[in-house]
Amino acid sequence: MQVLVLGSTGQTGYQVVKQLLENDIPVKTIARTTDKFASFDKNGNLQVIKASILDMADNSLKEILADIDFTICCLGHNISLKGIWGKPHFLVTEALKKIHLNTDNKGQTKKLILMSTTACLNDDKQERFSFGEEIVMGIMRCLLPPQRDNEEAVKFLKSIDQGDHRLEWIAVRPDTLVAEEQVTNYEIFESPQKSPVFNAGKTSRINVAHFMMQLVCNDELWTGWKYKMPVIYNVKEQTPDQ
Ligand SMILES: NC(=O)c1ccc[n+]([C@@H]2O[C@H](COP(=O)([O-])OP(=O)(O)OC[C@H]3O[C@@H](n4cnc5c(N)ncnc54)[C@H](OP(=O)(O)O)[C@@H]3O)[C@@H](O)[C@H]2O)c1
Repeated sequence: MQVLVLGSTGQTGYQVVKQLLENDIPVKTIARTTDKFASFDKNGNLQVIKASILDMADNSLKEILADIDFTICCLGHNISLKGIWGKPHFLVTEALKKIHLNTDNKGQTKKLILMSTTACLNDDKQERFSFGEEIVMGIMRCLLPPQRDNEEAVKFLKSIDQGDHRLEWIAVRPDTLVAEEQVTNYEIFESPQKSPVFNAGKTSRINVAHFMMQLVCNDELWTGWKYKMPVIYNVKEQTPDQ
């Protein structure tokens, strides 16, 4: 088994790479900078390809994808003026389209895990924003291109013909991301349990990476969540006086 990780220099993507390697799973990654992987220099299970995914020629990507079983996409717009309002406006969507285009449909079905967000609703589950949430989301869509990108990315996955057996997918939806050092207890739901706008929950990036790794390792878990949009929240630890 071999996994391609996109967004591996980011806070979640790096955790995904680390946890896969700790579990002896071979990883390839395409990254614009490579310094972050210096500590894995001697790890024969990691192959770092220095490139920007959207600028890669299709035949190069096809070659990279040939022996990949899972692609995990943790790409996200950098929190800077250029990252949020500059090009590419559809970084995540365009990257998924390139992966799909260059995945051949001969042989075994490939699998893709997208890091999405609770701000993307799942129509299949009749999820709807309340009136107040819809107003806030409308403003966010106008002002923040990354929200539109996240929504388009999910729309693209849903548009893939499930009959072509080329790519199965799961869109993992964390709520507000937080940084933690250790994996803690987390819960997975079919749909958001809290308002992502007015009452957001918390999800550690390290827990997102852990769940993604479980999806790679556990066939039954994959089958259960295939073509779905699982929501992940940290379990709030009770202190003794609570
Ligand atoms: N903030 C939240 O509370 C929240 C909640 C739920 C979901 N999310 C979503 O979670 C995702 C990942 O979050 P994170 O905090 O782990 O992200 P992050 O640390 O900001 O990482 C972003 C990754 O995307 C890469 N990237 C950015 N622009 C790129 C470009 N033009 N071309 C190629 N690669 C590019 C970065 O690479 P470089 O190092 O080369 O820049 C980095 O590897 C985001 O999509 C975000 O929308 C966020």
